[in-house]
Amino acid sequence: MIVREVGREAADLLSAIHEECFPNYWNIETFNNFFSVDGTRVMIASSCESVSDCAESFAADRDPVHRQRRTQDDEAGAMIVWRNQHTQSDIMTLAVRPAFRRQGIAKTLLEEALAQMESARVRDIFLDVEDGNMAAIKLYEAYGFTHLRRRKLYYRQKNGSHTDALVMTKKFS
Ligand SMILES: CC(C)(COP(=O)(O)OP(=O)(O)OC[C@H]1O[C@@H](n2cnc3c(N)ncnc32)[C@H](O)[C@@H]1OP(=O)(O)O)[C@@H](O)C(=O)NCCC(=O)NCCS
Repeated sequence: MIVREVGREAADLLSAIHEECFPNYWNIETFNNFFSVDGTRVMIASSCESVSDCAESFAADRDPVHRQRRTQDDEAGAMIVWRNQHTQSDIMTLAVRPAFRRQGIAKTLLEEALAQMESARVRDIFLDVEDGNMAAIKLYEAYGFTHLRRRKLYYRQKNGSHTDALVMTKKFS
C-alpha cells in the first residue's frame, strides 16, 4: 500500500470508503465541504496508480460481475482525515475497509499523519472515538493518546439510540 495525499478529486472515493466503515457515513458533499476549510489534510493508503484508478477499482470491487475480473493489487484500502488549526490538530476520521484490517494500515496512516502534524508545528491533537470501539481506542493508546473527557450520548445510532464519545488527546513534547 502506498500512502498519498488526496484532495477534492477523491471526495467520492472517500465517501465510499467511509460508507464501508461507519453506519452513519459521510456523503460526498460532506467531504467536499471539508476541503473548503483551510488546514484540512487527507491521505489514503492504496496500491492504485492514481485516484481515478482507485475509484474505478473500488466500484468494480462492489460490483459482483466485475469482481471476478479485477486484480487484487489495485486497491484503495483506507483513509485518514485531519485538520490543522494553528498549534492544534483534530483527527476527524480514520477508516480501514474491513477486508484490509489487521495488516498495520491504520498504524501506517496514523504514523504518517502524526509526522506531518509534528512538522507543521502542531502541539496538541484531539479526536473523538465511540466508547467501546476497542480497536480504535487501543490503536490511539499505543500512539500515546489519553482520555480527556466524555461526550455523553454524542453518536446517534441507526436504531435511534445514542452512545458516548470519548475525547482523546496527545501532546507533542
Ligand atoms: C480502528 C481501525 C482504523 C484499525 O485499523 P487496522 O488497519 O485494522 O489497524 P492496524 O492493523 O494498523 O492495527 C493497529 C493496532 O490497533 C489495535 N487494533 C486494531 N484492530 C483491533 C481489534 N480488532 N481489536 C483490538 N485491537 C485492535 C491494535 O492495538 C493494533 O496493533 P497490533 O496489531 O500490534 O495489536 C479499523 O478497525 C476501522 O477502520 N474501524 C472502523 C472505523 C473506526 O472505528 N475508525 C476509528 C474512528 S475514531
